[in-house]
Amino acid sequence: MIRHLLSGADLDADTATLVLDTAAEMATVAGREVKKLPALRGRTVVNLFYEDSTRTRISFEAAAKRLSADVINFSAKGSSVAKGESLKDTALTLQAMGADAVVVRHPASGAPHRLADWVDGSVVNAGDGTHEHPTQALLDAYTMRSRLGRLAGLHVAIVGDVLHSRVARSNVLLLTTLGAKVTLVGPPTLIPVDIATALAPGIDVSYDLDTVAPGVDVVMMLRVQRERMSDSYFPSAREYARRYGLDGPRMRRLPEHAIVMHPGPMNRGMEITPEVADSPRSTIVEQVANGVSVRMAVLYLLLGGNNR
Ligand code: NCD
Repeated sequence: MIRHLLSGADLDADTATLVLDTAAEMATVAGREVKKLPALRGRTVVNLFYEDSTRTRISFEAAAKRLSADVINFSAKGSSVAKGESLKDTALTLQAMGADAVVVRHPASGAPHRLADWVDGSVVNAGDGTHEHPTQALLDAYTMRSRLGRLAGLHVAIVGDVLHSRVARSNVLLLTTLGAKVTLVGPPTLIPVDIATALAPGIDVSYDLDTVAPGVDVVMMLRVQRERMSDSYFPSAREYARRYGLDGPRMRRLPEHAIVMHPGPMNRGMEITPEVADSPRSTIVEQVANGVSVRMAVLYLLLGGNNR
C-alpha cells in the first residue's frame, strides 16, 4: 500500500480496486447499531483544514471515529495560522504531537505534497487549490460501481467548470486508470486547452452538452466556482445554465440507466435544477454516505491495514 494519498495518479488499478473493495466492507459497519471498528485504536488522525468545507471535513472525522482513532480537528480560523504561522511550522507541531495521519485541505495547489516532506505520518489530500481531491474521485468511482455494477467501459461526462475543479482532475486520473472513458464538457473558457495531454491522453473534450448526453452512462455536474474566478468566463448565469446546466428536459434525453452526480455544494438553478438534483437518478446523497466508507478504507489501508 502507498504511504500518502496526494493524487488520483498515486493509485494504480489494483490499489484503487483494493480501496473500493475495502470501502464496500466498511459500508457494512454503517448499517450496524454500533457503527465502530477497533482498527485504528490508539492512532491519531489530524484534520487540517485551511479552506471551508462541510462534507469533506465531517466525512473524514466520521471515518476516523468509526475506526476508533483519536481525532484532532484543526481549522485555520482561530489557530496560529491566523497569526501568520507557516505551513511548515504547523507541520512540525503536528509532528511533535505524533500525528499518524494528516488530512489536509489547502487553497494552494501542492500544499499537501510539501506537508508530506515534513511529517512522518501519512498525508491525505482533501483538496488542494484547483489541483486534486483524490478521495472525492474514489467515492465517485465507488458510487458509479455500486449503481452501475462496473467501471471499465463506462462513459462519464464531467460537465462545467473544469478549469477550477480539483474534483474533475482527480476523477479523470482515477477513472481512466480504471478503464472508464471520460469526456470533459463545458464552455471553452472553462476547459484548459492542454488538459488532455497534461492529464490523460485519450480523454475527449466537447463544448456541446446536448451532443454528448445521449451516449453517456454518468453525468457528473461540477459547481461553478465563483470564489476562484477573477475574470468573467461566461456571459451570464442564465446563459451558462441554458447551455451547460442540467434541467429536467435535458436529463430526460440521457439514456434511461444513466445517473447524475454532483460533488456538492450545489448551485441549484445554475449547473443543476432542483428537479434533477432531487430525482431518483441523482446519486448526490449517496455520494456523501459513500464518502465515509471510502475514507474509512483509505485511513485503514494507509494506517492500520496491509502495510504494518
Ligand atoms: C468539492 C471541493 O471542495 O473541491 N466539494 C467537495 O469536496 N465535496 C467541489 C466544490 O467545491 O465545488
